[in-house]
Amino acid sequence: MMKVVILAVTFISLAHLSSPNSCSKCGNTEVPYPLSTTKNCGDSSYRVYCINDTLQFLSEEKIFYKILSIDANASRLVIDPPDIGRKKCYSSDLSVGGLKISESSPFNISKRNTVLLFNCSKNLLLSPLNCSSNSICREYEQKIEEGRPCRNTLCCSYLKDASMTSHIIRVRVEGCTAYTSVVDLKTDDPPTSWNYGIELDWLPPN
Ligand SMILES: *[C@@H]1O[C@H](CO)[C@@H](O)[C@H](O)[C@H]1NC(C)=O
Ligand SMILES: *[C@@H]1O[C@H](CO)[C@@H](O)[C@H](O)[C@H]1NC(C)=O
Ligand SMILES: *[C@@H]1O[C@H](CO)[C@@H](O)[C@H](O)[C@H]1NC(C)=O
Ligand SMILES: *[C@@H]1O[C@H](CO)[C@@H](O)[C@H](O)[C@H]1NC(C)=O
Ligand SMILES: *[C@@H]1O[C@H](CO)[C@@H](O)[C@H](O)[C@H]1NC(C)=O
Repeated sequence: MMKVVILAVTFISLAHLSSPNSCSKCGNTEVPYPLSTTKNCGDSSYRVYCINDTLQFLSEEKIFYKILSIDANASRLVIDPPDIGRKKCYSSDLSVGGLKISESSPFNISKRNTVLLFNCSKNLLLSPLNCSSNSICREYEQKIEEGRPCRNTLCCSYLKDASMTSHIIRVRVEGCTAYTSVVDLKTDDPPTSWNYGIELDWLPPN
């Protein structure tokens, strides 16, 4: 009897240690702490949404982005870049200006993203972005089906390093109208094997 009690207590405290009030799965996806799908679990500053068994991230502009992977140890997750239209070189979040995350959110856009911008206006040539004819965005346009509508438009790429704002990937009509992102780009690999996604870091809770 005693043994059973001790075992039970050990089990409960271990479970508690490894996952302090973490949320239950969303479909088949684990929702590790501090991510929170309801107000009764996780940490409410790290709100994500379980919609139709799919875990999603909500931007400041109220657009949902599917969460592709989570690495709680490294305090980061990867979201699915918005679709590019079949006929026009427009990202599905163009009408709201792209991806925006609140400055007060614990999430930011990680420095491991290489952002590819398409159908840019000539003004972008004056920017520090790489809009040269051998920029890696060309490879995407040429070799990836989703990039087809963007072929022969001016495209540019940049690494999301400290010089850029970490809470926005901006697109707009008369600027660049579509984008995608690659995590930890290996330029020697072909575009078909790049890791497409937008990696977000989160500030660990205290
Ligand atoms: C939920 O997922 C099912 C199966 O993938 C799909 O048929 C349905 O349209 C989805 N519903 C919503 C509201 O997205
Ligand atoms: C996270 O870190 C813990 C402790 O270091 C380790 O046991 C666990 O396997 C790691 N999980 C993942 C998914 O890397
Ligand atoms: C590029 O963007 C402009 C608006 O800035 C739009 O008129 C044009 O149709 C777009 N090009 C493509 C290929 O979608
Ligand atoms: C732009 O990117 C290409 C391909 O990675 C590289 O060869 C080139 O030197 C870059 N140009 C500038 C101006 O950074
Ligand atoms: C995002 O936040 C993390 C954790 O606070 C920080 O280490 C990182 O430098 C930030 N990234 C950017 C691009 O500002």
